[in-house]
Amino acid sequence: MSAFSSQHAVIFAWLLCTLMLNTGTCNNFSIGCSQKDKLGLLNFKQRVIDLSAVLSSWNPDQDCCQWRGVNCDHITGRVTRLSLPCSTTLATYIDKQDKSHCLSGSIHLSLLLVELEFLNDLNLSNNDFLALQFDSVHQNCHNLSVVSHFHRCVNSSSLGYLDLSFNDNLAINSLQWLSRIYSLKYLDLGGIDLHKETNWLQPLTMLPSLSVLVMSDCQLKDLSPSLLYANFTALNALDLSKNEFSSELPKWLFNLSCGICYLEFGMNSLRGQLPEALLNLRQLKYLNFEDNDLDGPIPLWFGKFQYLKYLIIGANMFSGSIPPNLGNLSSLIALSVSSNQFTGVVSERNFAKLSKLKRLIIYSSPPLIFDCESQWVPPFQLERLVLGFAGPNLPEWLYTQRNLKRLSIFYSSFVAKSKFWNFVSRVSELDLEGNLIVGNLSNNVLLNSSFISLTSNDLKGSLPRLSSNVVIFDVSNNSLSGTIFPLLCDHKMLNGKGSLIYLDISRNHLSGELTNCWKNWKSLIHVNLGSNNLTGKIPSSMGSLLSLASLHLHENNLYGTIPTSLQNCHSLLIFNVRENNLSGTIPHWIPHDARALQLRSNNFSSNIPTQICQISSLIILDIADNIISGEIPTCLHNITSLVFNNATKSSLSFSFHYSSSLIYFHDDSLELVTKGRVSEYDTNLHFMTLIDMSSNNLFGTVPPQMFSLVGLCSLNLSHNKLRGKIPYEIGNMRSLESLDLSANQFWGEIPQGLANLSFLGVLNLSFNNFSGKIPSGTQLQGFDAVSYIGNPDLCGPPLPKICWQDAEHKDSKPIDEDEDKDEFLSWFYIGLKSGFVTGFLGVFCALFLNRKWRQAYFTFLYDMRDRLYVMVLIKMNSSR
Ligand SMILES: *[C@@H]1O[C@H](CO)[C@@H](O)[C@H](O)[C@H]1NC(C)=O
Ligand SMILES: *[C@@H]1O[C@H](CO)[C@@H](O)[C@H](O)[C@H]1NC(C)=O
Ligand SMILES: *[C@@H]1O[C@H](CO)[C@@H](O)[C@H](O)[C@H]1NC(C)=O
Ligand SMILES: *[C@@H]1O[C@H](CO)[C@@H](O)[C@H](O)[C@H]1NC(C)=O
Ligand SMILES: *[C@@H]1O[C@H](CO)[C@@H](O)[C@H](O)[C@H]1NC(C)=O
Ligand SMILES: *[C@@H]1O[C@H](CO)[C@@H](O)[C@H](O)[C@H]1NC(C)=O
Ligand SMILES: *[C@@H]1O[C@H](CO)[C@@H](O)[C@H](O)[C@H]1NC(C)=O
Ligand SMILES: *[C@@H]1O[C@H](CO)[C@@H](O)[C@H](O)[C@H]1NC(C)=O
Ligand SMILES: *[C@@H]1O[C@H](CO)[C@@H](O)[C@H](O)[C@H]1NC(C)=O
Ligand SMILES: *[C@@H]1O[C@H](CO)[C@@H](O)[C@H](O)[C@H]1NC(C)=O
Repeated sequence: MSAFSSQHAVIFAWLLCTLMLNTGTCNNFSIGCSQKDKLGLLNFKQRVIDLSAVLSSWNPDQDCCQWRGVNCDHITGRVTRLSLPCSTTLATYIDKQDKSHCLSGSIHLSLLLVELEFLNDLNLSNNDFLALQFDSVHQNCHNLSVVSHFHRCVNSSSLGYLDLSFNDNLAINSLQWLSRIYSLKYLDLGGIDLHKETNWLQPLTMLPSLSVLVMSDCQLKDLSPSLLYANFTALNALDLSKNEFSSELPKWLFNLSCGICYLEFGMNSLRGQLPEALLNLRQLKYLNFEDNDLDGPIPLWFGKFQYLKYLIIGANMFSGSIPPNLGNLSSLIALSVSSNQFTGVVSERNFAKLSKLKRLIIYSSPPLIFDCESQWVPPFQLERLVLGFAGPNLPEWLYTQRNLKRLSIFYSSFVAKSKFWNFVSRVSELDLEGNLIVGNLSNNVLLNSSFISLTSNDLKGSLPRLSSNVVIFDVSNNSLSGTIFPLLCDHKMLNGKGSLIYLDISRNHLSGELTNCWKNWKSLIHVNLGSNNLTGKIPSSMGSLLSLASLHLHENNLYGTIPTSLQNCHSLLIFNVRENNLSGTIPHWIPHDARALQLRSNNFSSNIPTQICQISSLIILDIADNIISGEIPTCLHNITSLVFNNATKSSLSFSFHYSSSLIYFHDDSLELVTKGRVSEYDTNLHFMTLIDMSSNNLFGTVPPQMFSLVGLCSLNLSHNKLRGKIPYEIGNMRSLESLDLSANQFWGEIPQGLANLSFLGVLNLSFNNFSGKIPSGTQLQGFDAVSYIGNPDLCGPPLPKICWQDAEHKDSKPIDEDEDKDEFLSWFYIGLKSGFVTGFLGVFCALFLNRKWRQAYFTFLYDMRDRLYVMVLIKMNSSR
């Protein structure tokens, strides 16, 4: 009786649920999860590293359908969905993106799919998994190799959605297993390293239902351009952006007859012209070829894509004129044709039917000529406009755009009058970088946009006033003059509260003191006042900038000591006061995770504090050209980032939210002296590791720890009073590209080990007391004689001096030398262990970022949001 009624209760409850269509309350009535699924999930959990107890609710004594992330079928009690994506917030300093609360370890995929026979949706996106595993504890599947195991044991006809995206440390060597998941409709492997799977296309074509495929940023290289036919029978959306494809558009693409409507190939290196076969994909709604190397004209037939809503072909090498036929694309919402080699005239006809257009990105260098009637009122009301035009007159139709929220003007020159400044006070993002805008901001202009970049123009007069809305303000590289007082100290404008987080007024003619108004600007993260004519002391009120991450005060006339109040700036990562008249000691309070300390060309004195060694993330230590004395500290090996040089992930890039949904990415930059010349490092800054202690009064011997910094790219100890011998172990510093020990009192032979440094491009050992023969038969002969001159006892090529016979030389060897060496070696190997291994891999100094990285930020800034939005829409419409 009781059994009967409880069964009734379940069925009734289920009916009720179905009627209420409310899954939230329905869980209460489910019959409980299947034992088989529960075991499968527990086995999955076993391989997972879960430091934050995400899976704490996975208690074996409880119904697994109630576990976090698990959904069951209410009737069968079988698990249908496992959804454990990790949510993270974007850190200001990208390297500090925190995934410690996410899942790590390995994903035991074959087990999940074997045990959880009815799993339809698996979402583990944005975690920090490190491996995908295929071995199994399943009974029938013992003792099989990985691949054959999967083939024998996995035959999933239920998994429809698989999302492993943004597990950035995950690499997968083979995708053969995918061909066994017949039912897959949606696959997102974005951000996973797939470079070892050269045949990635083949297993995917075995999936008859695959509708959405995202393999963005997977380090794929081969697009199989000559393959005629790929067996995607259901494909609706294809995202292969941010890979390394460098062929022409693949032939198989044009045979996707299935009504594909979303095509995303942005940020590759695709070549060639747009073939007419592309018209086979007549259904396209979204087409993105941004940032490739495509060339030739935009064909007339492009006007036939009648469903196209998004056409994004910026940053290629397209040439010719922009065809008027694009004006036929009446569905267009977004059009981007920027950064190509277009020429000619743009007129009303180019926009004739674009009444739905919301985003228009059109500029070129040299600028396009806009020939529109002055009375022309466009059929569209834009929200976003990126424009470049041949000046000097601003197109009048700009003023008809009443909904404009984001305005950028590039490659144009025009005179900005007050009508213009009034108009732009309504847009929330104003980017006028790199034009020849002539204007005077002193006439009481009040800037009001949350994002303002006026960098690299010809603005004169004093600094403008900012409203409290301004979050990002960049007027660097203009001709502004006067003091910074009006900008920072106008309290009545601000109601005591500024939102500014990014301030760059560098490279102007500003003068006067730094003011004491910093307390009004507590949200500042980035401050650059460099290359002006500012004077006075660094005010202690700067210590109230508690969020400050990056401070540049270089190339001014600042004097006095660095105020200790700055030690309140616990987030400081970059501290740059190069080329001032500052004095006192090197600050010893620099935060331990700082990345760059640049004090060069000041009057800093006293010793190098050992606290420097606690800054374990430091990659730039530039204290050259001061009056620092004493010995080099023996603790430098504690700066682990110079030992390991695992800098690939640690881009010196900051992100700033300037509205709820918009983010500005900024690559910090520093001017460094390396390889004998001055270079500006920005996107590649995090690849550079440098110690420059040159032109000081340092004395004593160089501690052996210095030579354990095997991640170092550039070492300059020149023009000091250092002495002693250079140990053979210098040969372990394999990353070294530039080594300058000149004008010291080093002695002894040039160690053979130096010849191991195959990246060494600049060597300067001149003006020391080195003796003996320059190791022969090595690349050391490849340097000019100037690398060695001024060492009277040094001989052999490239020096003209001929060497003595070796025998006599050996006899005169000092007795204590071997002892020194042994002591050194024992310290060296005990202290370093793993350092070498990673050090050898870490030859990053030579790398320069390719175009893709640069553009990545660009795209983030302009299109990421749109793209995600469209992707979601298409996913919803076509997949579920
Ligand atoms: C159903 O479960 C929810 C939580 O999942 C709980 O808040 C609610 O009280 C339960 N209802 C019943 C009737 O047990
Ligand atoms: C997986 O979860 C993330 C985060 O909630 C979500 O954005 C994504 O769309 C999900 N994937 C699938 C296939 O539903
Ligand atoms: C698996 O291999 C082990 C030894 O490697 C062997 O003892 C065992 O019998 C094998 N099991 C099966 C099912 O073949
Ligand atoms: C896979 O499972 C389906 C039923 O779900 C079955 O028809 C098919 O034969 C199986 N294939 C293999 C290779 O086991
Ligand atoms: C095309 O896909 C089907 C399954 O959908 C498969 O049987 C067939 O072998 C595939 N053909 C090629 C050429 O890959
Ligand atoms: C693929 O396209 C080529 C032309 O681009 C055509 O010759 C071929 O027949 C097409 N194959 C299929 C299977 O549609
Ligand atoms: C596109 O527009 C041009 C004029 O701008 C017109 O001559 C042409 O017929 C149109 N083509 C299509 C396919 O609508
Ligand atoms: C810098 O300011 C000083 C006064 O503080 C002035 O004498 C000098 O001419 C200025 N230099 C430049 C380049 O403006
Ligand atoms: C350097 O690190 C060692 C441990 O690795 C520590 O004992 C020592 O105090 C550190 N030295 C300095 C100056 O930080
Ligand atoms: C670099 O590698 C070392 C040793 O593997 C590790 O201790 C350190 O945390 C790493 N640093 C970064 C920034 O990844």
